[in-house]
Amino acid sequence: MIIKNGNTIHLQGRDISYIMHITDEGDLLNLHFGRKLEDFDYSSMTDEWREGLGFATNAFPLDVYPQEYPAYGYTDLREPAYRITNKYGDSVSRARFVKCEIHEGAMGTADMPCLFGKEARTLEITLQDDISELEIRLYYVVFDEYNIIARHAVIVNKSDADAELTCAYSASVDLPMGDYKMVHFAGTWGREREMFSTPLPQGLNVEAENARGGSGHQVNPFAMIADAGADETHGNVYAFSLIYSGNHSTAAKVDQFGILRVRQGINPRGFSWTLKPNDSFCTPQSVICFSQNGYGDISREYHKLYVNHLMRSKWARKDRPVLINNWEGTYFDFTEEKLLNIARKAAEAGIELFVLDDGWFGSRNDDKSSLGDWFVNKNKLPSGIDGLAKKVNTLGLKFGLWIEPEMISPNSDLYRAHPGWAVKTARREPVEIRNQLILDLSRSDVCDYVINTISKMLSEANIEYIKWDMNRQMTDMPYEGFNHAYTLGLYKVMSTITQSFPNVLFEGCSAGGGRFDPGILAYMPQIWASDNSDAVARLKIQYSTSMCYPVSSISAHVTASPNHQCGRITTLETRAGAAYAGAFGYELDITKMTDTEFEEVKRQVEFVKNIRSFIRTGDLYRLQNPYESNYCGWEVVSEDKSRAFVFTCKILAVAQSKNPWLKLFGLDEKARYRSVETGEIYGGDMLMYRGIRINYDMRDFAARVIVFEKI
Ligand code: DGJ
Repeated sequence: MIIKNGNTIHLQGRDISYIMHITDEGDLLNLHFGRKLEDFDYSSMTDEWREGLGFATNAFPLDVYPQEYPAYGYTDLREPAYRITNKYGDSVSRARFVKCEIHEGAMGTADMPCLFGKEARTLEITLQDDISELEIRLYYVVFDEYNIIARHAVIVNKSDADAELTCAYSASVDLPMGDYKMVHFAGTWGREREMFSTPLPQGLNVEAENARGGSGHQVNPFAMIADAGADETHGNVYAFSLIYSGNHSTAAKVDQFGILRVRQGINPRGFSWTLKPNDSFCTPQSVICFSQNGYGDISREYHKLYVNHLMRSKWARKDRPVLINNWEGTYFDFTEEKLLNIARKAAEAGIELFVLDDGWFGSRNDDKSSLGDWFVNKNKLPSGIDGLAKKVNTLGLKFGLWIEPEMISPNSDLYRAHPGWAVKTARREPVEIRNQLILDLSRSDVCDYVINTISKMLSEANIEYIKWDMNRQMTDMPYEGFNHAYTLGLYKVMSTITQSFPNVLFEGCSAGGGRFDPGILAYMPQIWASDNSDAVARLKIQYSTSMCYPVSSISAHVTASPNHQCGRITTLETRAGAAYAGAFGYELDITKMTDTEFEEVKRQVEFVKNIRSFIRTGDLYRLQNPYESNYCGWEVVSEDKSRAFVFTCKILAVAQSKNPWLKLFGLDEKARYRSVETGEIYGGDMLMYRGIRINYDMRDFAARVIVFEKI
């Protein structure tokens, strides 16, 4: 709901309020973001900020007030939401309220992925700075059913000469004095999105930012500001999720008066954008969310929102096929016969989709060549992709293919024909990472080439799944702001291809989970979470990835033991257990399994088919935190509360250990539930409030999977 009452604008979600106030001078203040307020005298809120400081004069600078979209260089001297150097050469700005309008439906960003939904409403506020000759339009998408506000800004150069934009955050919020921490998700290849908590003392700018080209392995564009004592089920939490796949920043700083300013948007580091007269710049959308009850509520809010109002693929709302991918099974070393043997055995196990990974094109037998040469290597695959797909289909499996369309190998026909298509500066040799360069998607001819090549590939064979990889960070950017131009090109390519092939299931990937962000999810409903497929490493990765992203989007595979990334030995049961609550698959040479293992795989596949619908649509509760304990556990409860899937793993064996009671959430407390495995019956209230003691096998990495069904 959006209510404009005099000089106050009140946005309401299901349980949240977001309140702004327009001062007599036209400055836009941010009065409240948090729990829903129904009956409140807003007039008292505006003066409390200044009076709380003991100042008597109205003429005090904007510095003491909570700003809605803080400008640079006027009288708020904190960190700005935007900074633009005008035609006169200065960057001082004060944009004041002109008007606001309420629109039906979710208004989004023009050339970037964003939320959709007819049931939403959008508030559009226009601010103007007559002296700097610019206009700012602020957008707020509100859904009655969700505790989120999606914000973005459009900045327009109203002057008759160029202006230079060097900072353009999507959202800025000033929160009242409190004892806060910032929770962010950082890592590297193979250790993506580990969860960190940092106190926010006065004067330190704590910034979770990435400027490596994509959203990155190193820092995710999702962060939470929470009460210092907040946890999974307690405390105020303000969450910020950016729908963007390029360089990003989420920054928090407590000012001199204890007010916390949080900003999220495109990273100003390395950003600059020239606005010609009447040009506008649109920021990506920042989706902000509030919960009074800890991180769990935040996660469930984003999960539902992103599945229903961000992901455009119809696969977002459909069960995913159980797949087998050949990468860790064969790497580059395969023949058609070897692949078909894997597919045959996979079909026997009930697996539904066979995915051919890297190495099928050009002369690619290692990672040194051929990216860009998207024609089949007939030496390896004499029947071509079309022939192979047909043979795989005959076995009863769908066929899927790996591509890395944003890349170009210097050793490729494409590079020899178009050396100028690679991202590089005018005078320096570009840096190769994994022996490859990046195609310049800021150019429309290069985008068209990629669109046409991939479209042709998808039209010529029955390819029902695509794994879209991107294996390097961005160097040699030819100008400041290039990363944003590239990201816009990428979105154009992704949106054209995914719209042209709506039946294809697309999976995002970036050297594992290097681009796990809502921008990619808008086009591809699942993303490979990490190249680290070790079940124990995955506990942390998947636990913290689920803080923002739906479990159905987290691609998780059972791979060989010892694990290829860290050598750990785990049981097949533990490996599958850790992957069930995800987009589930196998990535190993199934022909090398023992008969016992193969029978176990058959059981697992049948089990997944039985639970995957409610895992996809249900509510996730994290039960045991692997960052703080020797256990990791989660639970998914079906929407109607009739079924619950529980996974728990005791990481290291401990003699005479005191295994904790596991308390479940989200069940019907008046109902009774039966454990499918043991037949034991429990009250919903007992499972939730008293809990059950779990027995784990006496070994390291012992996992249990339990399904409860309502009786
Ligand atoms: C990186 C991906 O994360 C892997 O799964 C695999 O597809 C390789 N690239 C292939 O080069």
